[in-house]
Amino acid sequence: MKLRDKVCIVTGATSGMGEAIAKCFSCEGAFLVLSGRNLESGKALEAELSNAIFVPGDVTDPSYNKKLVQTAMENYGKLDILSLNAGILGLGNVQELPIDTWRHTMDTNLSAIFYLCKYALPYLQKQPKGNILVNASIAAFKSFPNHPAYCASKAASVALMKQMAVDYAPNIRVNAICPGPVDTPLLWESAKAFENPRTAVENAKRTTLLKRLGTPEDISKLVLFLVSDDSSWITGTTVTIDGGIINT
Ligand SMILES: NC(=O)c1ccc[n+]([C@@H]2O[C@H](COP(=O)([O-])OP(=O)(O)OC[C@H]3O[C@@H](n4cnc5c(N)ncnc54)[C@H](O)[C@@H]3O)[C@@H](O)[C@H]2O)c1
Repeated sequence: MKLRDKVCIVTGATSGMGEAIAKCFSCEGAFLVLSGRNLESGKALEAELSNAIFVPGDVTDPSYNKKLVQTAMENYGKLDILSLNAGILGLGNVQELPIDTWRHTMDTNLSAIFYLCKYALPYLQKQPKGNILVNASIAAFKSFPNHPAYCASKAASVALMKQMAVDYAPNIRVNAICPGPVDTPLLWESAKAFENPRTAVENAKRTTLLKRLGTPEDISKLVLFLVSDDSSWITGTTVTIDGGIINT
């Protein structure tokens, strides 16, 4: 039990990696506040896991982030860990991309991290050890066609992570993971930026050095390492988890 009695907020918990992270944290003894937009899957996950409270809402709304923190404090009396997974793609090249989509992508992938950290930090600071883990992407370092808002927002989320690591050390560790192609609904959505989406996913799989897509469980194991004491000398850094595709 690596997270026994730790109180964690997990965003994007109703799908993909966030859902796998919530399940992994629950198995490791954590108390959870689950954030997501899908009421049905959020309620189902809440029922499946012990010690989990689902709070539906939109992470681009600052007051919703405040509510996530309040839910943790009112129900569990403390807050130890943030796992920030909510993300969208906002596809289209710069000429095509509607300004609203640009703004919504930056709000979801970047500003929402700022909002939740802003409200959570006073409580994380009260704990002997706090932990913030941003789910960025290899798109922070590598460009993909028709993903301008995604690449820019993910690069900025890494910069924000590094900056917070400076301000909040030594009690709070802040890190980011940079996944490559992981088999979730978002990956298939991302493939729509290519002429033949199925071929694009197959190509991504073949291009990885390890010849497979990542699974949400591959990711949750790394996240568990980074938020637990096993990584107690790691802060302000990114860990790439991509089957080696960044080297190709
Ligand atoms: N799948 C990949 O290949 C891949 C690769 C690198 C990084 N990522 C990142 O991993 C994270 C998780 O994505 P995933 O692949 O599991 O996809 P996913 O689509 O399964 O999950 C994304 C989650 O974010 C939530 N979300 C999106 N906008 C929201 C909003 N405004 N308010 C509340 N919740 C919102 C969705 O409801 C969903 O639960 C994302 O940040 C994504 O950018 C994914």
